[in-house]
Amino acid sequence: MTEKYYVTTPIYYINSEPHIGSAYTTVVADVVARYKRMANSDVFFLTGTDEHGQKVLGEAVSRGMDTQAYCDILAGKFRDLWKDLEMSNNGFVRTTDEYHIRTVQAFVKRMFDSGDVYKGKYEGWYCVPDETFWSKEDLKEGNCCPECGREVKWVSEENYFFRLSKYNEALIELFTQKPEFVQPDFRRNEMLKILQAGLKDLSITRTSFNWGVPMPDDPEHVIYVWVDALINYLSAIGFPHDMELFERYWPADVHLIGKEINRFHSIIWPAMLMSAGFPLPKQIFAHGWLTINGQKISKSLGNAVSPKVFIDAYGNDALRYYLLRDIQFGRDGDFSEVNLIGRINADLANDLGNLLHRTVVMIDKFNEGVVPAPGITGEHDSIIIEQAEKTFAVYRESMDQLKFTQALESIWELIRFGNKYIDLTEPWKLGKDMTQKDRLDTVLHNLASILKNVSLMIEPIMFHTAREIRRRLGLEEELDFSDLGWFPISSSPRVSHGEPIFPRIDIEKHRKVTDVVENEKIPEEEIGVSLIDIESFAKVELRVALIVEAKKVEKSKKLVRLQLDLGDLGRRQVVAGISQYYSPEELEGLKVVVVSNLKPAKLMGIDSHGMVLAAKFGEALTLLTVHRDILPGAKIS
Ligand code: MSP
Repeated sequence: MTEKYYVTTPIYYINSEPHIGSAYTTVVADVVARYKRMANSDVFFLTGTDEHGQKVLGEAVSRGMDTQAYCDILAGKFRDLWKDLEMSNNGFVRTTDEYHIRTVQAFVKRMFDSGDVYKGKYEGWYCVPDETFWSKEDLKEGNCCPECGREVKWVSEENYFFRLSKYNEALIELFTQKPEFVQPDFRRNEMLKILQAGLKDLSITRTSFNWGVPMPDDPEHVIYVWVDALINYLSAIGFPHDMELFERYWPADVHLIGKEINRFHSIIWPAMLMSAGFPLPKQIFAHGWLTINGQKISKSLGNAVSPKVFIDAYGNDALRYYLLRDIQFGRDGDFSEVNLIGRINADLANDLGNLLHRTVVMIDKFNEGVVPAPGITGEHDSIIIEQAEKTFAVYRESMDQLKFTQALESIWELIRFGNKYIDLTEPWKLGKDMTQKDRLDTVLHNLASILKNVSLMIEPIMFHTAREIRRRLGLEEELDFSDLGWFPISSSPRVSHGEPIFPRIDIEKHRKVTDVVENEKIPEEEIGVSLIDIESFAKVELRVALIVEAKKVEKSKKLVRLQLDLGDLGRRQVVAGISQYYSPEELEGLKVVVVSNLKPAKLMGIDSHGMVLAAKFGEALTLLTVHRDILPGAKIS
């Protein structure tokens, strides 16, 4: 029976576009998925976007966009990027998808039915960017989030709670009985400390805004974005709408995540699953964080570079090789462009490139371009075979444990051994003496065999290179791990030369991506424009409104509460994200343009009915006003 394998990445917040750091989890998941497919497992690799919550709502509002339309555009950008990065994901889940919303409600209902959900008053500190609650003791100086350092805000409301504390003991037991459940070990120990300190119940709904999944039977409440998001791992594989698919893949084999979201995955998620009566995933693997040239990756630092930029400069295979080879999976690591170039030159152009080039040239010259059948065994053969067998074992063991650096190190040891084998056996001398042809055949055959096996082992990481190696050797391109081993090989078409598979990069002359980025700041992300017909435009009602009162929303950097006079439509309250651009005094008395038939929404607990229009370019923003006097409420067409 085929073994199934279900691997997931976290679903990405769509408040900004992915950068090399955030793409790291997905690249690794893709490597794992391809590795398992090569081993003939039935793989489901899932990724997606996390679209609910205050943060996403805030982003859409600050751009003056309809929230769903904003989500559609950003989710599209993620999908496109994963295509550019050649991700082999089988599923892409969006938390605003209808089926996901139904799954979340069904799941929460099961928690309810287990007696684990109750109503209570929530008062506490909330970090909007991280969508996380904190207790006073957890906060950093100046009421700042211990995770991201940004200011938290006080919230007080009636919420539904999940009896997380009930699962404290069960989780400690799980961590003790199955230490592999959370990896690496030091991350499990961090979680154990939290458990030993004792868990508090978790507030799982919000009423201060409505961008989320409505609580079943109490739609005034929307479900906490983290509870909503975690359930994607079930909704995307069919619970409860496609139970056959669901039963095929659940429980997940591994949830790959970054270290800062470990608590949600290793504590809250298994407790939710226990409560709702589901088997637990087999493993949570929390990796470390990437920095770029020693600096934190962030939009404001201007180094939140799209991985696409590195692919365009160095190629997908080289980038993937570098990420997997140089950054120890599980540990924090620095993404250094200089080191990336160093790896390309030393490991790819030199070690691998030379072995392939020398082998192809000699097969061409000494055996009419065809890999020969082995002839006479000689000195050094047994060592190379032993080395190859050892590499296969180390490779498999390391890849199974997600130790990519070690897996690649062992492959490169074999590659370097291959180059040494050429130096030791001196095939160019054997080629000059016809009586040595049988010996030469073995040497050439062994070299081709090393390269075939290397190509198979690197395929999950560098699939283009892997196939190119086999193509140049005249070997079948579609092979899998059943072909990994020291078996006699034969090639049908002739070997072929070509440009070096990895040309050397002159580090001095190269226009380095990270330098370029530092000098030419990336422009504000541009939202794509699509054409609409006149009927669609006619659905939008625009009116002139007089701002009669403007007040800053307390504890918000962006929001202003506006009281508007809309003539025959009466008075309206609208919340606008323009606080950085206008003082309340400047706003009062202005006649602005509003979308007057927008569905009401809540922003930080405040009702907002309509949207004021503004034009933005770079850092500049101006409200749209009317240049001749006209009565408030006048229609715009
Ligand atoms: N939406 C939540 C996850 C919900 S899963 C049920 C989230 N999204 S995120 O967009 O902020 O992060 C997605 C992934 O990117 C996380 O695994 C995170 O750790 C990873 N990374 C974001 N920046 C990173 C680096 N600089 N380095 C490595 N990975 C980091 O969290």
